[in-house]
Amino acid sequence: MQKAGIIGGGLMGSGITEVCARAGIDTVVVEVTEEAAAAAAARVRGSLERAQGRGKITEQDLTATLERITFTTDLEALADRDLVVEAASENEQVKLDLFRRVGALLEKDDAVLVSNTSSIPIVKLGAVSGRAGHVMGVHFFNPAPVMKLVELIPSLTTAPETLERMRSFVTETLGKEPIEATDRAGFVVNSLLVPYLLSAIRMYEAGYASAKDIDSGMVLGCGHPMGPLALADLIGLDTVRAIGVSMYEEFKEPLYSPPPLLDRMVEAGLLGKKAGQGFYSYGEGR
Ligand code: CAA
Ligand code: NAD
Repeated sequence: MQKAGIIGGGLMGSGITEVCARAGIDTVVVEVTEEAAAAAAARVRGSLERAQGRGKITEQDLTATLERITFTTDLEALADRDLVVEAASENEQVKLDLFRRVGALLEKDDAVLVSNTSSIPIVKLGAVSGRAGHVMGVHFFNPAPVMKLVELIPSLTTAPETLERMRSFVTETLGKEPIEATDRAGFVVNSLLVPYLLSAIRMYEAGYASAKDIDSGMVLGCGHPMGPLALADLIGLDTVRAIGVSMYEEFKEPLYSPPPLLDRMVEAGLLGKKAGQGFYSYGEGR
């Protein structure tokens, strides 16, 4: 797989783009508007510059990596790709529309179309794509350049060869460590993580403790790299909410249901770190 396409250049799409391009892959990123494409390009460049500043890559690596990436708003630019990773917003209708359109335009019979969805059923995306055997979930973790894990999620209709091709791609080409999960909303990690994050939000909403003390409790008491409210801010509160909604729809488990405070924050545009404000404020340089 030498030619990749990434749909969506937000938090995850830009990170996955960096991972692919650093692995030597020609990568096309498709965004919805010129502004969003420019923001995606700035995110990838900023991350590479930080890596260079820390001595992890050379200036030549940075230049060569950026030369492998094209940012566009034209979905047709994905036609000649060997692999397309969909990393658009966590919205089922958006993803169904993309799988329908991209499934129809891929030129190579064996091109693989995967979703980075956190919780939307893979089988539904395969069904509308017209190439269900070549569709599966490939779930990266945030920040994608740092986190080693990738969840591989074959659906009922994924061909075994597709799973094996993606396993060898993420392991050998991208240097990640895969685990395999079944096609249930939340897969392995979010099934454990999201009820924990939602419980922390409920705790904060009920006035148990300050955000800082809830987070310090888990960092200092349990050795987590960051507390649950800071982690929800890092993921994006719209995304946390959308994952909770999908998981609740599937299992009707009250712990998966987003608390009212999370709804209100998303409605107010307080989406966490990417918006500059969530449970914490993120000023310039913080
Ligand atoms: N892009 C690239 N590299 C990054 C980065 C980014 N966005 N953020 C941090 N890094 C790198 C830094 O360059 C640094 O690398 P070196 O040590 O090699 O120099 C390293 O990561 C550590 O960074 P910092 O020292 O700046 O900060 P930190 O030690 O506080 O670590 C963190 C930051 C990696 C985010 C850490 O706090 C952490 O692991 N947090 C938990 C993240 C987590 O749980 N992610 C999963 C979210 S759930 C999910 O992704 C699934 C879903 O569907 C929602
Ligand atoms: P984000 O909000 O940061 O970015 C989403 C991007 O998708 C935006 O830039 C938006 O313009 C773009 N987009 C929306 N519709 C599009 C379309 N039709 N065509 C092209 N681009 C489109 O979201 P994110 O955090 O990057 O999440 C993306 C996906 O990755 C979601 O499915 C999410 O569940 C999943 N995910 C998120 C995390 C996380 O921690 N944020 C971790 C793993 C997986």
